[in-house]
Amino acid sequence: MTSPKKLFIKTFGCQMNVYDSERMAEALGGEGYVETKSQEDADMILLNTCHIREKAVEKVYSDLGRLKKFKEAKPDLKIGVAGCVAQAEGGEIMRRQPLVDLVVGPQSYHRLPEMEALIQQGKRALDTDFPEEDKFEKLKARPKAPRGPTAFLTVQEGCDKFCAFCVVPYTRGAEVSRPVTRILDEARNLVERGVREITLLGQNVNAYHGAGPKGTDYTLAQLIWELDKVDGLERIRFTTSHPNDMTDELIEAHGNCAKLMPYLHLPVQSGSDHILKRMNRSHTAESYLRVIERIRAARPDIVLSGDFIVGFPEETEAHFQETLDLVEQVKYGYAYSFKYSTRPGTPAAERALVDAAEADDRLQRLQALITKHQREIQDCMIGREVSVLFEKPGRDEGQMVGKSEYLHAVHVANANAQVGDIAKVRIVDAGTNSLKGELLS
Ligand code: 5AD
Ligand code: SF4
Repeated sequence: MTSPKKLFIKTFGCQMNVYDSERMAEALGGEGYVETKSQEDADMILLNTCHIREKAVEKVYSDLGRLKKFKEAKPDLKIGVAGCVAQAEGGEIMRRQPLVDLVVGPQSYHRLPEMEALIQQGKRALDTDFPEEDKFEKLKARPKAPRGPTAFLTVQEGCDKFCAFCVVPYTRGAEVSRPVTRILDEARNLVERGVREITLLGQNVNAYHGAGPKGTDYTLAQLIWELDKVDGLERIRFTTSHPNDMTDELIEAHGNCAKLMPYLHLPVQSGSDHILKRMNRSHTAESYLRVIERIRAARPDIVLSGDFIVGFPEETEAHFQETLDLVEQVKYGYAYSFKYSTRPGTPAAERALVDAAEADDRLQRLQALITKHQREIQDCMIGREVSVLFEKPGRDEGQMVGKSEYLHAVHVANANAQVGDIAKVRIVDAGTNSLKGELLS
């Protein structure tokens, strides 16, 4: 028997890339590959790339440059580039970097087996199509091997909203939702393999409208209620959402569906109506705050997170102050803030930039405020009872680390628990990034 070939995948960027990497590894599993954690051992190295902010392309080229020594040491080594930089750069990657054997976009990785056969013949393979066929239908059935207790599951891809700063509509294409039965089948497969928490993924996940079993489209809320019936699945999350698609029924699900976790990532990007308009966000700061009010009315203990861009073209200090005001009002449990980065081909790319030092300063001030709120919210958890899904052993003997329903990382000493167990825990101490708890049950 020939020994299996080894595949090393390096994943950059968002959770959807994490999911895609898993599916790519499965697709190549059929071609005799098993995953390795060591680049030195690999017969194939795949970089699954992200294009959301600047320097992504440069980073990929410099990473590829570093792989040269591996190819010299092992001439049969195959090197591939996948993900959104592959989509955006296409054949240019092969022109600039002769050691690349394979370039595959996020919509065509179901064709990896054929591409692999080509590169084994010494050819180069490029596929950055937006094919007619559904990649999920073409991918092999998911394996049955046991796996960890949390999983991502892509239910929707692409974006039709065209925010002025964002490459996603160009790299991931138009919004497409997967059919409900396929998602349920995949969820059941994951649960049989040990998964207890599923995070539904989509660039605009709350705009989900997939074909339902009775011939009509289902909304995300309806999909969540279907998943609620899956025995053994204990926790449901979804990300990333757009404020305009937070429907009443989805908000109600946050109040009524026990499996839907009290955590919501709801990016707003800016607190200034002028900037929001220039970003083509089609909502105002006020309408966003009203959505938050409705969510908190349905689920008062929900922890919110968001995304922010500072230094968007034309942003003045006064506009930035409006962002700080909004953050003060919402008090996020977590938030991700970024300095605006020009993406070629997007509408905002043509506009004059804010002074870089000014943008850096705003980013620091925003992050300081967000961290202060994050710490306050973590401190408020002390004394409270949470449920923790254990994901891995901790550093100390007997310690386990898991996530609360609010997505806080919780360390529990003497947990006497297995990975995948869900336990009641009392929080006894808090840091900025994690909590300490004691087992109650
Ligand atoms: N510059 C900076 N941040 C960006 N994001 C998306 N595009 C850009 C850009 N051009 C941020 C947004 C988005 C998150 C995924 O990345 O905040 O919500
Ligand atoms: Fe990008 Fe806006 Fe679509 Fe989000 S909603 S993926 S930020 S275009």
